[in-house]
Amino acid sequence: SLCVTDSCVWCFSCVLFFTESFEVLGPADPVVAVAGEDVVLPCYLKPNISAVDLSVEWFRVQTKDPLVHLYQDHEDRNENQIPSYRRRTSLFPEELRNGNTSLKVKNLRGSDNGEYKCLVHYTISVSVAVGTQPVISIEGYKEGGISLVCESKGWYPQPQVVWMDSEGHSLPAGHTETHTDSMDLFILRRRVIVQETEINRFTCRVLQEDLNEIKETMTEIPGELHIFSINKGGVVVRWCGGFSWCLLYSRYKQLDGGTA
Ligand SMILES: *[C@@H]1O[C@H](CO)[C@@H](O)[C@H](O)[C@H]1NC(C)=O
Ligand SMILES: *[C@@H]1O[C@H](CO)[C@@H](O)[C@H](O)[C@H]1NC(C)=O
Repeated sequence: SLCVTDSCVWCFSCVLFFTESFEVLGPADPVVAVAGEDVVLPCYLKPNISAVDLSVEWFRVQTKDPLVHLYQDHEDRNENQIPSYRRRTSLFPEELRNGNTSLKVKNLRGSDNGEYKCLVHYTISVSVAVGTQPVISIEGYKEGGISLVCESKGWYPQPQVVWMDSEGHSLPAGHTETHTDSMDLFILRRRVIVQETEINRFTCRVLQEDLNEIKETMTEIPGELHIFSINKGGVVVRWCGGFSWCLLYSRYKQLDGGTA
């Protein structure tokens, strides 16, 4: 909120507005200013993601045509702004990148009295969503290695899925299978066949460059056979934990006439 010293009727508030991915925060205490001054009405995003591609709307509360300032599609769109604010409002373009959507109002006047809200949202045409932490599952022995599958859901726009070894080098992997859910958000699956290495540690990284968002999950495949027992007929493996197992299992299945 903001109060002008002589009348204390300037009350600006920056309403908390939640979406799945960020919240909009305003000042905890009233901001005080004097008529005729310029004032900055604080409003910022947490986490401090860039607001450059978002819509920032400042409006008056309890007013019929309440628009004070609108930033959308990378520019100010103030055709429908309350006339008394014409050429007196501005955002801080260089600050938008840091999630700072504060509004500057120049030359405060009496008619500016009242409560204000700052609304930051994804524009409908550019809706975005950050998906889930990727989940890695071990499919088993395949084509001379171990097949791992990475899955992540709920993304928009479509991110990239990358498999990496323990040193962060990207691994050649299959194509990314893409589906959409009932809300048109992307579900991605990508398979990789890995060879046994000294450190059997593999990472699946999902990255959405537009959102500057990365989610990754690491898995470690134990290199040794874990639990097995010898049965009358041959080797019976109870737990698929590692490379050796999968190799053994595969041989066993082949002897058995099955497929691995
Ligand atoms: C976001 O905030 C962190 C910690 O306060 C800071 O280090 C970082 O530079 C900020 N990022 C941007 C884009 O302003
Ligand atoms: C936002 O930008 C304004 C203008 O540069 C600055 O006064 C204010 O401290 C910034 N707020 C945050 C949270 O960085």
